Amino acid sequence: MSISEKILELAKRRGFFYVSSEIYGGISGIYDYGPHGTLLKRKLENLWRKYFLSLSDNFFEIETANIMPEKVFEASGHLTNFVDPVAKCKKCGTFHRADQIIEEFLHENFEGKTAQELTQLIKKYNIRCPRCKGELGEVSVLNMMFPLEVGAGKEIRAYLRPETAQGAYVNFLRNFNILRMKLPLGLAIIGKAFRNEISPRQLLLRQREFTQAELQIFFDPRKLDEHENWNEIANYKLIILSGKKLDKLTCNEAVKKLKLPKFYVYYLAKMQQFFLDELGISENKLRLRQLSDEEKAFYNKIHFDFEIELESGWKEVAGCHYRTSHDLSGHQLVSGKSQEIFHDGKKFLPHVIELSFGIDRIFYALLELNYAEDKDRIILKLPAKLAPYTVAVFPLVNKDKLPEKAQKIYHELKQHFDVVYDDDSSIGKRYYRQDEIGTFLSITIDYDTLKNNTVTIRNRDTKKQIRVKIDKLVEEIKKLI
Ligand code: GLY
Repeated sequence: MSISEKILELAKRRGFFYVSSEIYGGISGIYDYGPHGTLLKRKLENLWRKYFLSLSDNFFEIETANIMPEKVFEASGHLTNFVDPVAKCKKCGTFHRADQIIEEFLHENFEGKTAQELTQLIKKYNIRCPRCKGELGEVSVLNMMFPLEVGAGKEIRAYLRPETAQGAYVNFLRNFNILRMKLPLGLAIIGKAFRNEISPRQLLLRQREFTQAELQIFFDPRKLDEHENWNEIANYKLIILSGKKLDKLTCNEAVKKLKLPKFYVYYLAKMQQFFLDELGISENKLRLRQLSDEEKAFYNKIHFDFEIELESGWKEVAGCHYRTSHDLSGHQLVSGKSQEIFHDGKKFLPHVIELSFGIDRIFYALLELNYAEDKDRIILKLPAKLAPYTVAVFPLVNKDKLPEKAQKIYHELKQHFDVVYDDDSSIGKRYYRQDEIGTFLSITIDYDTLKNNTVTIRNRDTKKQIRVKIDKLVEEIKKLI
């Protein structure tokens, strides 16, 4: 069994995620999160919120609509440019994402190639339909947005947003004024985005409906080569893929050697620190890759992807995008309403650096990277702060006043931690169940508890148990996590 098959099995059994509307066969690329998955996902989102919003007093979270009028995407360029190359099988009629089937055949990345180039590659290597081996037609492009007709009269043409970002751009001027006209201004959105993927695949890694956490930082382009907290990260080392080789470059070196602006590099460093220090991803599983002109998104001037190594290869989980004034200029043009601001004695359009994270992809990576087996035991070794529950409380048996005592301890601990009470089946089975959910510590109330007011604390990863006094329990758990 591959790790992804094991993860899917565990995810279904323990309520992390599963195919949505499964009783009707589901739709590929659309998933639901179960109770434990939702707990983990919320913790991940909250960690993101806390970390990125505290980078500046002028960074704020907003919540914006999923449905936006067509004009928004005319302005942003998505109507014309947000397309995937597709090849239709002449025999069975299936559409395939052209760059992906070529990648599977030649084991190279072909993202960003034109439809013509992809058609030539398909012909040259005689690549056939993966489903029926039929001949493939010419490569064409399909827009990936989901169109909607809003209202009974169908007079308003709209789309489900393909990125949260546009919500921040169409709201920029209003919020700049509300928030006392200071730059840099950060507007963060955590929410759903929708893409009509041709071939959704690899569980949560490529979905049609997914969660993004994006921070748009609006700044004065004259200040691109500085950051007020530069000294904090000047000598911090970034893990950068240069050509085929991984290099560790200090932020100062990245500015000089790669000719990157300081304001941009500062956020590369903060993003890397988030993955390593907050999510506990190990250094050898993370890399920053600069995208070529062909590969980078149409709105970006500088584009680095953050990639995590999974069983299926290096996967993009986040991106740091220098979008310049691309979006505000577009909205100014299409809406006919000036988006310029007056700041520091000058009138100008702010530029934007976007920190964009695929929450579901990171969620999946956390499951895969923390999945472990110890004989017949499965353990999800999630960092304590991300585990759905920090602590589980068990009565050894469901009699002799042990449940009453355990319930009392459970309610006390709930005031401090995320706690679950588990009294189902044998104690051994409970340990197994909590290990699979990733619960960091398990506390058992036994007959000694009634005699001397002590309980055992078992560590998920080592299985080691210690006995502690109940009046020291909260303190002891805090120490352990
Ligand atoms: N907002 C950037 C992205 O969706 O990748």
